[in-house]
Amino acid sequence: MKAYEIEQFGIDNLRIVERETPRPAAGEVLVKMHAASLNYRDVMVVSGTYNPRMKLPAIPFSDGAGEIVEIGEGVTRWNVGDRVCSTFITGWLDGGASAETAKTAIGAGGYDGVLSECRVFDESSLVSVPDHLSFEEAATLPCAAVTAWNALVVSGNIKAGDTVLTLGTGGVSVFAIQIAKAFGATVIATSSSDEKLEKVKTLGADHVINYRTREDWDKAVLELTEGRGVDHVVEVGGTGTLPKSVKAVCVGGHIALIGALDMAGEFNPIPVFMKAVRVQGIFVGSRAMFEDLNNFMVKENIKPVIDRIFGFDGAKEALRYMESGSHFGKIVVKIGE
Ligand SMILES: NC(=O)c1ccc[n+]([C@@H]2O[C@H](COP(=O)([O-])OP(=O)(O)OC[C@H]3O[C@@H](n4cnc5c(N)ncnc54)[C@H](OP(=O)(O)O)[C@@H]3O)[C@@H](O)[C@H]2O)c1
Repeated sequence: MKAYEIEQFGIDNLRIVERETPRPAAGEVLVKMHAASLNYRDVMVVSGTYNPRMKLPAIPFSDGAGEIVEIGEGVTRWNVGDRVCSTFITGWLDGGASAETAKTAIGAGGYDGVLSECRVFDESSLVSVPDHLSFEEAATLPCAAVTAWNALVVSGNIKAGDTVLTLGTGGVSVFAIQIAKAFGATVIATSSSDEKLEKVKTLGADHVINYRTREDWDKAVLELTEGRGVDHVVEVGGTGTLPKSVKAVCVGGHIALIGALDMAGEFNPIPVFMKAVRVQGIFVGSRAMFEDLNNFMVKENIKPVIDRIFGFDGAKEALRYMESGSHFGKIVVKIGE
C-alpha cells in the first residue's frame, strides 16, 4: 500500500512510500482509507514544531474516513463494508480526560496517522460515518468538529438564546458556528477577510467583524451585545487574542481555550477572576462526544464545510494551502479511487 511518511521534518520532505499492507490482529479491523482531512496541527507535525523529538518515520494526519475491509478475531462492533471514521484520541472512549488517554492521540509520532491507503485500527477507536455524509465530509470531523462540540456543548452547556463569539474561519470555528446556530444561539463571527465574512453569513452568523480592519474587535463585540459581552468564546488564537476575548465575554461567561494560532503578547489573568470567567482547556474529545455530535449532525442535517479536496498526491500542496490560511473551513485529501 502507499502511505505518506515523515522521514525528515519539512513539508517538502514528505514522501509517498510503499509499505506492506497490515493485517488486523484480534480486536482490530483493517480500514481502506478514502479520505483524510487537515488540521493546523498537521502543518506543525510535518514541519517539526509540534514535537521536534517525535519518532520518525511516521505517517501524518489524524483525521480520516474509510471502509472496513477485514476484521480480526473477536471483533464485535463492526462488519466488513461498514463506513467508519477515525477518532483523534483513540483511547478516550467516554467520561473525562485523563493523562493515560491523552497519550493515545494519533498522527503525531506515537501512533501513525491516517494518510495511507489502509490502516489497522483497534475496533474501539472508530465511529460510524453518519449516513448523510460522504467519506470526504466525514473525514473532517474527528478533530475540528469534536473540538467545537466539546467546547460549546460539553464544556459550555450551550442553550438557545446564548451568544457565541468565534475567531477566524478555520476548521474549528466554522464547525462552532454551525453547531451554535443549530442550538439557536446568536453568533458573532470574526475573520481577517470580508469575503470569508460573507460566507459565514450564509452559515447563519448573525453579526460579523473583520478583526484586521477593526483591531478593537472586543469593543465591537461589546457594542453588538449592548455592553454585556458574549456567553461563550471559541478561543482558537492564544495569547494574541485571549486578552480581547476576556474583554468580550460576559461576567460569568465561558471561554473554551483551544488554539495557539496567535501567540503574540502577554496575558493578564486579573480580569478573568474579576469577571468570574470560566476558562476551560479543551483537548478534542472522547468517542462518546463524537457519537453525540454525529447524532446531532444527522438530526440537524449539518454538512461540514469543505474548502478544497486535493488528490492523494496533493498532500504537500494541501499542507501549504492550510499554512497560507486562505482556506474557509476544512481541507481534505482524497485517498484511493
Ligand atoms: N485543543 C484542541 O483540542 C484543538 C483542536 C483543534 C484545533 N486546535 C487548535 O486550534 C487552532 C485552530 O485550529 P483549526 O484547525 O481550526 O485551524 P485553521 O483551520 O488552520 O484556522 C486558520 C484560521 O484561523 C484564523 N486565525 C488565524 N490567526 C488568527 C487571529 N489572530 N485571530 C483570529 N483568527 C485567526 C484565520 O481565519 P481568517 O482567515 O478567517 O481570519 C485562519 O484562516 C489551532 O491552533 C489548532 O492547533 C486545538
